Amino acid sequence: MFSVRIRVALGLITALLIALVSSTYALADGPWPNDPQGPQARSIADLYWIMFVAAVVVLAIVDGGIIYAGIKFRERPGHVAKQFHGQNFLELTWTIIPTLMVVSFSVLSWQKLDFINNTRSSDVGMVIQAEGSQWTWTFSYPQEERFKLLKGYLQTGEELHIPVGMKVRIELSAKDVIHSFWVPSIGGKKDAVPGRATELWIQADKPGTYKGQCFEFCGDGHADMLITLVAHPQNEYAAWAQQAVKDANVFLDPLTTVGRELFFSLACVGCHTIDKTTARGKVGPNLTHLMSKKSIAGGVLSPVNEENLTRWVSNPPAVKPGTLMPNLGLSQQQVHDIVLFLQTLK
Ligand code: CUA
Repeated sequence: MFSVRIRVALGLITALLIALVSSTYALADGPWPNDPQGPQARSIADLYWIMFVAAVVVLAIVDGGIIYAGIKFRERPGHVAKQFHGQNFLELTWTIIPTLMVVSFSVLSWQKLDFINNTRSSDVGMVIQAEGSQWTWTFSYPQEERFKLLKGYLQTGEELHIPVGMKVRIELSAKDVIHSFWVPSIGGKKDAVPGRATELWIQADKPGTYKGQCFEFCGDGHADMLITLVAHPQNEYAAWAQQAVKDANVFLDPLTTVGRELFFSLACVGCHTIDKTTARGKVGPNLTHLMSKKSIAGGVLSPVNEENLTRWVSNPPAVKPGTLMPNLGLSQQQVHDIVLFLQTLK
């Protein structure tokens, strides 16, 4: 019934539709620009929809005209094309209408830019520094009492925590190459450029977790350079900060430093691995997330707590005869220090 050409065309269109639909499924869980969850994202989305609708109307008129003309004036035996030159009405129409459209889009965008770029308004409630590096973001919170650590101030990696309903200025910098900060449902994107200060503001309407993605190709790990933006209800933000400060302090506590130094000076590192440290042993279990395990000593000791860790480190063969982990003959104080350190491995 259909010619080969039409069948091929239909096949291609179907394949294209399937590809489109499946890519929206892939995106369903990812960053998505048209789901605004904050005033800035909303102002961008409004503009987006105005332009989208206008583009669809133009597409329908132009492509409709082409298809109509293609069918009506197609080559047929006995039909001779009329020869003429110029059509003032049409030419004026397709010059004036697009010009008006482009001008109005420019004006609309221009008006929005003031709002979108206004990072220095008086209602900015907090300023957070974001540094991009291959391939992660480091967020530094304000130098205020609530973010104060035993040493320095709170920083988080990859996760950015803000209070709901507050305008937050993000001051961007980059350590190595150009990166770009983008959490689409919360706000527009901005490049982080080495040696140059850039900034944008964000604000979330509702508590929740919003995904972001580095938007400037920055090397091998670019696709995995993600941002997790967590918006807390205002009255819970202080509690989050308190807990984050507490967790960060564990690593700065002089008490755990003694144990850490001891651990790295002993035979422990010959058998165990702790990610991002010099402990790279392969004989024993990886201790990077020791405190998240259900048990230690191959399941003999459970749960993983101070008491069981102390029993185990003091004399492993006494707990589990035949174990490869030797009794290092540590003093009670040394065991205590090491166990304090081990408890920081979450
Ligand atoms: Cu950082 Cu792409």
